[in-house]
Amino acid sequence: MARILAIDDESSILESYKIALEDLHDVTMAEDGDAGLKTLDSGLYDLVLLDISMPGRSGLDVLKEIRRQEYDCAVIMVTVHKDVETVVEAIKAGADDYMTKPFKVTDLRHTIELSLKMIDLERKNRSLRASLKATEHRGEIIYASESMALVFESLKKAAPTDSSVLITGESGTGKELAAQFVHEHSRRAEFPLITVNCAAIPETLLESELFGHEKGAFSGATERKTGKFELANRGTIFLDEIGALSLELQSKLLRTLETKVIERVGGNKPIHLDVRWIAATNRDLSRSVENGEFRNDLFFRLNVIAVNLPPLQERREDISLLADHFLQQFAEELKKPALRLSNEVQEVFEVYDWPGNVRELRNLIERHTVLEPGPEVSVESLPDHMLDAYRKEIGVAITDVTKSRYKEAIEEFRRAFIVRAMRIAKGNQIRAASILGLHRNTLSHHLRALKILPEEYGQGDVSK
Ligand SMILES: Nc1ncnc2c1ncn2[C@@H]1O[C@H](COP(=O)(O)OP(=O)(O)OP(=O)(O)O)[C@@H](O)[C@H]1O
Ligand SMILES: [Mg+2]
Repeated sequence: MARILAIDDESSILESYKIALEDLHDVTMAEDGDAGLKTLDSGLYDLVLLDISMPGRSGLDVLKEIRRQEYDCAVIMVTVHKDVETVVEAIKAGADDYMTKPFKVTDLRHTIELSLKMIDLERKNRSLRASLKATEHRGEIIYASESMALVFESLKKAAPTDSSVLITGESGTGKELAAQFVHEHSRRAEFPLITVNCAAIPETLLESELFGHEKGAFSGATERKTGKFELANRGTIFLDEIGALSLELQSKLLRTLETKVIERVGGNKPIHLDVRWIAATNRDLSRSVENGEFRNDLFFRLNVIAVNLPPLQERREDISLLADHFLQQFAEELKKPALRLSNEVQEVFEVYDWPGNVRELRNLIERHTVLEPGPEVSVESLPDHMLDAYRKEIGVAITDVTKSRYKEAIEEFRRAFIVRAMRIAKGNQIRAASILGLHRNTLSHHLRALKILPEEYGQGDVSK
């Protein structure tokens, strides 16, 4: 069922539209051009039937205004005389089709169905192009962990419904990716997914960004602006960083969520919308509710389906898989052969705690793919804070061993610690010394004193 606006100064014609179309479509009527434009402004229409000759604003004039304001609808011009010149002018000004009065009901319906098909295709095409642009930097969702499998299982179940979804998780865990997944697995997939980052837009602009504004709504509003909610109609709106919203905007959002109606800033006409909601935050929203920073009722409305993306350090089995994926991805993007991770680098990755989660891993690999000649990512090129964490971690692992005698335990620890560093540095004493934070001479003294052999750090065969 499409929403059709018929503009004609003859009431008998309007009546006949109504009778011919009512069982198929939702028909609204306007008796002149000004009334028609006003109606268009307060709702979303798929198609306009527009009389060419009317007193006051001519049909052609109204058509030009419709195209200038970029209303997303098809326009069929209706004329008594098939005046070729006017028809040509109308088509040039953006009309999709034309009809002559009087018309047969079957012809009218046929012409309308054709135009509706066209506008539908156009919209799908537009949203496909938009999502294609978004995929350029996206790609697949990679995981091996049970916890992520569970998350995506529930998202898959939630996707085809219209329920609101709340995605929580630390920064960089893949919340935006999860939102895209839900949209793409929903029946709205061919319509737009519109993202609003609530934290990135200044509070004063956010309201008009979300709801749009009328011309002259405030100083600087020189044109009518379509808000994100309207753009998301039939599709999905993704409200990212929703925890950053002011209480005032929270109550406006709550009203929208409950009534499915928005009003543009500076306007007073309700616009009905069909939008699915996904929200995300890296805050603990239930805590924000307790602190009075987030509305309880909005939280419950958003929280119909809730998923939490675990931090990367709680799903270590995903690390090497993700690393391989990004190595491949950036190699393709940069048209270079893919780098490999040495065993040592993999070890460092395994024990590191990844505070920036998947994004940190992705950025690291992008940087290495750009900067390193290859073929391997070497351990010395990793950032210092990662190596520090690694040194600390292996230190702890070895001292865990309970030794009855202090001296023995310390000796064993020193030995293992140095062997590990020599292995990471592939037997290069200068590198190993720098990993250990020792002077080179001190290291070589320890190597001799502890009688550490090259075989112990995997360099035994090198001289052969
Ligand atoms: N499981 C995954 N598989 C593949 N890529 C992933 C995965 N998780 C995250 N990424 C990638 O990591 C980056 C960060 O993910 P995303 O932007 O979805 O995180 P976020 O949780 O929204 O972060 P923030 O809270 O900082 O906005 C993106 O480039 C995303 O494509
Ligand atoms: Mg995000």
